[in-house]
This record gives sequence, structure tokens and C-alpha cells, in this order.
Amino acid sequence: MTLELRLASAVGADHVLTDPQVTASYDVDWTGRFRGRARAVVRPADTSEVAEIVRACAEAGVAICVQGGNTGLVGGSVPVDDAVLLSLSRLTALDPVDVVSAQVTAGAGVTLSALQQHVRKHDLDFGVDFAARDSCTVGGMAATNAGGERVLRYGTTRAQVLGVEAVLANGTVVSRLAGLPKDNTGYDVVSLLVGSEGTLGVITKLRLRLVPLHPGRAVALVAVDDTASAVSLVQRLRAALPSLEAAELFFADGLQLVRDKTGLPKPFSDAHPAYVLVECAQRTDPAEDLLSVLEEADEVRDATVASDVRGRHALWAYRESHTESINAVGVPVKLDVAVPLPALADCVRALPKTISAACETARPILFGHVNEGNLHVNVLDALDRAEQVEDAVLRLVSSYGGSISAEHGVGRAKRAWLELSRSPVEIAMMRSIKQSLDPQGLLNPGVLFS
Ligand code: FAD
Ligand code: MLT
Ligand code: ZN
Repeated sequence: MTLELRLASAVGADHVLTDPQVTASYDVDWTGRFRGRARAVVRPADTSEVAEIVRACAEAGVAICVQGGNTGLVGGSVPVDDAVLLSLSRLTALDPVDVVSAQVTAGAGVTLSALQQHVRKHDLDFGVDFAARDSCTVGGMAATNAGGERVLRYGTTRAQVLGVEAVLANGTVVSRLAGLPKDNTGYDVVSLLVGSEGTLGVITKLRLRLVPLHPGRAVALVAVDDTASAVSLVQRLRAALPSLEAAELFFADGLQLVRDKTGLPKPFSDAHPAYVLVECAQRTDPAEDLLSVLEEADEVRDATVASDVRGRHALWAYRESHTESINAVGVPVKLDVAVPLPALADCVRALPKTISAACETARPILFGHVNEGNLHVNVLDALDRAEQVEDAVLRLVSSYGGSISAEHGVGRAKRAWLELSRSPVEIAMMRSIKQSLDPQGLLNPGVLFS
């Protein structure tokens, strides 16, 4: 039996797609920079179908590329030529919320917004949130250990994952979904699979920790002079407000670009060099507490606060529209780095010079999650010098003791620079784990390692 026939008998012929017009959207990433060509797109409905597909591919020696919502930003979800593209988008089962434990079990293909709707009916919430919520899946978030806008309060996706079910490269299923918060019985296989970017197993289900849903929310957009003021403002807010949940940073050029693309009005009558967007959440409206800290803060040049839903969304739009607005101008060289917080201001100052030395035409737009020292370095008009720009930025970041990937992962985009963030011993450990779990190298070849 050919591989395609075996796949069709596993999932039904309707869920094996080979028509290039139908499969085209699976072959290119969200940014439009990374492309491949899958021999077939296979859409299983549950763990046993995933296992059957993986077994069939392993026996045929054919590579598998794993894809969730395809919103990843490092080329990891795009197929290498002739791989089978395994789409998890039909694994959308959501178990009833376990309100006693504040946990839920979700299929890997559940989108973040579907998860939010499901758990919010029970006054619970998910601790990770970001702009791709309508498309990204919890499987993809776990595979990349996604961060986003609430890491300051709740940590990254890894901190929310209490259990996992996954199909290993030989088709066997590992299932650890009890969700025990305390469980010290050897190697942490759950944590190992989280952040492994689809290279060690295909995640099919997750047991997720939930957090209280806070009905009182206030968002402030604050104008400041520079990155150093932003960092010191966030330090002040963190110390004064236990309800602080988000602290985001963007700059005048990013705001202008967002306004050009979205038509959003000026947030303040005067322009300012830098902006911090913060959100607080608790049982009651935190606006008054937030305002009183901002009134005392000498970093603040102007500020506007909203606690109604429309007002909050209007302020978030200035920050969350950055990604789409940048891509509406052109395909950027996209980097996602972190430096120790005390070095953030120096790094922001050094970046434009470093980037223009690598590419004269380059137009950098910076924004990010300030509390984690996480900068999204987007460089427009630089695709023909992409490698030089990437190399220069990642070496600069490394010189501050930073990370070449704060939250998007390594994927195919950054594998050449892995040694800037990981020691030879760590890379050898990672390679030996990969070799032992996937000796044929069939799961996401080219992701993480060259
Ligand atoms: P995909 O893009 O499909 O896949 C991503 C990687 O995970 C690939 O390597 C893929 O092979 C692997 N993978 C996917 N599903 C599975 C699975 N079930 N089992 C094993 N491996 C799997 N990221 C952040 O961290 N913070 C942000 O604030 C943030 N904001 C974003 C905003 C926008 C507008 C966009 C487009 C992206 C943003 N991202 C952000 C990127 C982020 O990585 C993804 O949105 C999300 O984590 C990926 O989910 P996905 O389902 O789309 O995964
Ligand atoms: C964000 O914080 O908005 C995302 O990580 C997406 C991006 O980097 O463009
Ligand atoms: Zn981000």
C-alpha cells in the first residue's frame, strides 16, 4: 500500500489533501518569509489517528512537519519539501472544566480564544494571552513555550502545563494527564515536551492550569522619554501594584506605522519617544490605584487610563496591531530577543546603529514585553541582507548575556545561531535527547538543529 493510501485509511480520504491549491496555505508561514511544499496534508481527528499517521511515516521513512494554527514566527510549522504535513487543527475536544482543581484538559488543536471562552464561564482564565489568540492552538503554544502579555504575572506556557499526551516518533503514545501539582517521580517529561518545537513528539492533549478570572481591569497607556524610564516605571508599578499583569513597550516610529495602517487616532496631543502600556486586574476596578501610582511617578510625561471594555481594547490596539501593521508594509526580518533588564536601555540604543551597519536601507521597528527584557526586533526593507542583520543583532544581544529567542522559539530561522545562547555541553545533551527519541530524525527535521 502506498503511504498516501495508508494515510487515507487512517483518517479518511477527505482528510488527506494533495491538491496544491488546497494545500497552499499550509506551505507558507504567517509572515510570508518561509515556504516549503508538503507531499500531503493530513488532518487526523484524535490521538489514535495521529499515532497511526506517525507509524505509517516512520515505516516509510518519510519526514513529518507538525502544524497547529500556523501562527509561529520562526518557520517551524512550514514543511520541508516532500514531508507529510500533520495538521492538528481537528483536535478540538475540550473536557468539562475541573473547577475544584482549576484545571482543564484540551485537545492540541483548541485555539486560545476557544479555551478562554470555555473556561471564563466558570470564573477562571488561562494565564497566557496574546494577539494571535483566534488562530494559535494550545498545542502550538506548548510546543513553542509561548510567552505573550501576561508573563509578568503568570509565567510562560510551560508554567501553565501540568500534563501532556503526545505521540512519539515511533508512534507510541505517552500520556500523563493527571495534572498533579506535586509529582517528583523522576525526569519531567511534560516540561521536556513543552518548548521542544515538535522535534520530540506530537502533542495531542494538554492538562492546563487555570487562574482566577479578574472582573476588574484597568489599562493605562503612558508616554515616557525613553527605555530607561520605561524600565524604571515598570519597576515602580511592580512594587506598588500586586494586580499588575502586563507591561508592554513601543516607540514613536511603531506607533506612527500602526496609525498609518489602522487609522487609529493619536493617543495624546503631543508625540513622545516611547510608550508603556500596562494592565492591572483584580476583583474590583484597579483604575484608582493605578492612577495614583502614575500621578506620583516622575517618569510619566502623559497618560490615559481606561477600565471599560471598549476603552481597554482601544488602548491595547496600539500595541497589539504592531505585528500585522509591520507585515502590511512588507515581509520583515523578525527577531525576538531578550536581554537582562538592566541592559535593555543600552541594547535599544545600540540596535539601530548595529542594524544599519549590516544593511543601509534597513528600517528597524522595536517593541516588546518590557518586564522580561523581551524585544521584538522587526527590520523592514532588509530581506536581501537578512542573514547579516540577524547575525549582527543576535551577536549584540549575546554580548549582553541575552537570549536569541525570548518566546517564539528557534525554529528554522535561528538554528544557525543556537550556540550564542546554548553551551556546547547543552547542545550535545539536546542532540542526544533528540537522537534517543527520534533516531530517524523524522519529526520536524531542520527545526532547532541544522
Ligand atoms: P504553529 O505555528 O502551527 O507551530 C509552531 C511550532 O510548534 C512549530 O515548530 C510546530 O511544528 C510546532 N507545533 C505546533 N503544534 C504542535 C503540536 N501539537 N505538537 C508538537 N509540535 C507542535 N508568541 C509568543 O510567544 N508571544 C506573543 O506575544 C506572540 N504574539 C503573536 C502575535 C501574532 C499576531 C502572531 C501571528 C504570532 C504571535 N506569537 C507569539 C507567535 C507564537 O509562537 C504563536 O502564535 C503560537 O505559540 C504558535 O501556535 P500555533 O498553533 O500557531 O503553532
Ligand atoms: C507580540 O508580542 O506581539 C508577538 O510576539 C508578535 C511579534 O513579535 O510580532
Ligand atoms: Zn511577543
